[in-house]
Amino acid sequence: MKKNWTLIVTLTVTLLLLAAGVARAGGWAVLTLEEMPDHVTAGEPFVIGFAIRQHGKTPTTGLQPQITAVDPQSNKPVKFTAQETADPGHYTATLLLPHTGDWSWEIDGFGSHPLPPLTVQAPPVTAPRLPANAALGLLLLTVTAVVGTAVALIAWTRQRTNRRLGLAAGLFAVGLMGLAGWLWASSPVSAQSEPTAVFASMPPGAALFVAKGCITCHQHSGVSFSAGLSLSIGPDLSRYKGSPDYLRLWLHDPASVKPETVMPNLGLSSDEIETLIQFLTAPE
Ligand code: HEC
Repeated sequence: MKKNWTLIVTLTVTLLLLAAGVARAGGWAVLTLEEMPDHVTAGEPFVIGFAIRQHGKTPTTGLQPQITAVDPQSNKPVKFTAQETADPGHYTATLLLPHTGDWSWEIDGFGSHPLPPLTVQAPPVTAPRLPANAALGLLLLTVTAVVGTAVALIAWTRQRTNRRLGLAAGLFAVGLMGLAGWLWASSPVSAQSEPTAVFASMPPGAALFVAKGCITCHQHSGVSFSAGLSLSIGPDLSRYKGSPDYLRLWLHDPASVKPETVMPNLGLSSDEIETLIQFLTAPE
């Protein structure tokens, strides 16, 4: 009797696992990042937008994709929820990452989609042009010169000599220069170095290959990141030999080249297409 129970339990579990497996296998989607800022600054909110296409084709509506980013300093996950837009299958989310560094992140929409790490840069620091003492000195100089001008003018009204008028004019000029100097010194200078690209930890072409969802259907040896993500629906593109002209047509609209193709039109911009062409045709 005991044996039978074990058998039933084993069978049930196996069936459940199989069902889950089928559901997973039937449910795959291509995630394509669309809106992305060029740079991300710690503590400043930014908006991302993406499209989810079930089986690479059908815009998937009615999802509430969850975004998880891992803080490189504390290793703690930070979560955000994306909202559906009026455009079917398109979603946007506002993210705010508090610390600098490379944040690994993924979007869990229809299946989970790891994306190229987000490089978060420090906010620009503003530095004073002169030490505080020097700025104060300029202010004092201005005040003194203005008072001096007034005194010299009063003296001039009593006895109108050219010397007194000249003194007033000279002091006034010094006052003006002091004021200009003080204004200049009190406008802070931004000491920002070169801004860091948002996907700085990967070559641009490889980052696009992941961010646009090519990785879901293709493999490429130049993308070491997230190996095993690919379903290998399309050919391995590691040694792709095709002309840039052909690729330009193909990536712009695959169906215009092969009407029956499974590969979707991912709405790539011409800049993105050029970056991908360079990546795909680069010598190994
Ligand atoms: C939904 C799956 C899917 C996605 C996503 C996808 N592809 Fe494809 N791709 C295919 C399939 C399937 C083929 C084989 C061509 C066919 O359909 O006959 C292919 C073919 C190609 C080819 C070879 C074309 C030729 O005729 O020589 C290139 C290059 C290519 N894909 C690049 C990309 C790039 C770059 C991306 C991302 C921007 C991408 N693919 C996204 C499925 C996909």
